[in-house]
Amino acid sequence: MTEQMHIPVLLSETLDHLNLKAGNTVVDCTLGLGGHSLEILKKIGKSGHLITFEQDEDNLKIANSKFEASTTADRRNSKIGAQITLIHDNFETLSEHVKEPVDAILFDLGLSSPHVDDPERGFSFKNDGPLDMRFDKRQSLTAEKVVNSYKEKDIADIIYEYGEERRSRIIARKIVEERKKEPIKSTARLAEIVKETIRGKSRLHPATCVFQALRIYVNRELEVLEKALDQAINLLKPKGRIVVISYHSLEDRIVKRKFKYYAQDCICPKELPVCQCNFQKKLYILTKRPIISTDIEVKKNPRARSAKMRVAEAL
Ligand SMILES: C[S@@+](CC[C@H](N)C(=O)[O-])C[C@H]1O[C@@H](n2cnc3c(N)ncnc32)[C@H](O)[C@@H]1O
Repeated sequence: MTEQMHIPVLLSETLDHLNLKAGNTVVDCTLGLGGHSLEILKKIGKSGHLITFEQDEDNLKIANSKFEASTTADRRNSKIGAQITLIHDNFETLSEHVKEPVDAILFDLGLSSPHVDDPERGFSFKNDGPLDMRFDKRQSLTAEKVVNSYKEKDIADIIYEYGEERRSRIIARKIVEERKKEPIKSTARLAEIVKETIRGKSRLHPATCVFQALRIYVNRELEVLEKALDQAINLLKPKGRIVVISYHSLEDRIVKRKFKYYAQDCICPKELPVCQCNFQKKLYILTKRPIISTDIEVKKNPRARSAKMRVAEAL
């Protein structure tokens, strides 16, 4: 993985909205290759503390080597040298690791470039590889296991729910038919089966939604996001900022709803004439509509095309 291949998405927008100051404590829940984190470090300076989560050990190592290189370089001209805590864990464990309130929290969700580019990780049907799709290789559930051992109905439900694919039932039926002949072990084989089953009318490969669905299911992406957002919002100091960048509508919907929930004064049922909930509003939403990438950014970094950034401030 070369530095050139990795461009952090919505970088200047992220830094502006995190509203960082020297000495801040910041959590980057999705370290990836450290693109955003390296810039955060420059803003929070020597007295700052950056806490990062990453469930993919390979990415964690790459980011760590970048930190080592840049802190050594910067120590010479004394720019950074902030305390850095690297946590190899799912961000759903945020509040187990972070006990004190923090100034800012970032989530830049989804895949990193190596996940897409390395066929061995099994996320992409563009390059053939094993049907894996795990962010964390310590986990036992893989996409291969789902495709080859789950009941037809369960596969259909996963494709429908997480891929929003109306033709989920026929795809699941075909998968089950094919796996009886021979186990489906590779990304290319699965993509071929889906392509033979449904003809896509859009620009997208017909297997796009099926791959998205399996990846979300294997990594429990929506469930962990829900949990982590609750924890993150409750960890912010007053005026602390939360920035979330998502890449598909299912994630964005969760972020939008969660922010809305914590930004309301009352959660009583509408029929109640007088409020009885004592709900404590926690957030002020700073982005009524999500921030998206400019055409210039998308040209340089096509991955930014689907990015949506939402920002809120703690009260
Ligand atoms: C889009 S990339 C982040 C890129 C990063 N902002 C950068 O500029 O290098 C998302 C990263 O988050 C990690 N990730 C996704 N879900 C996670 C989770 N639930 N817990 C911890 N890390 C997660 C992925 O492994 C991936 O490396």
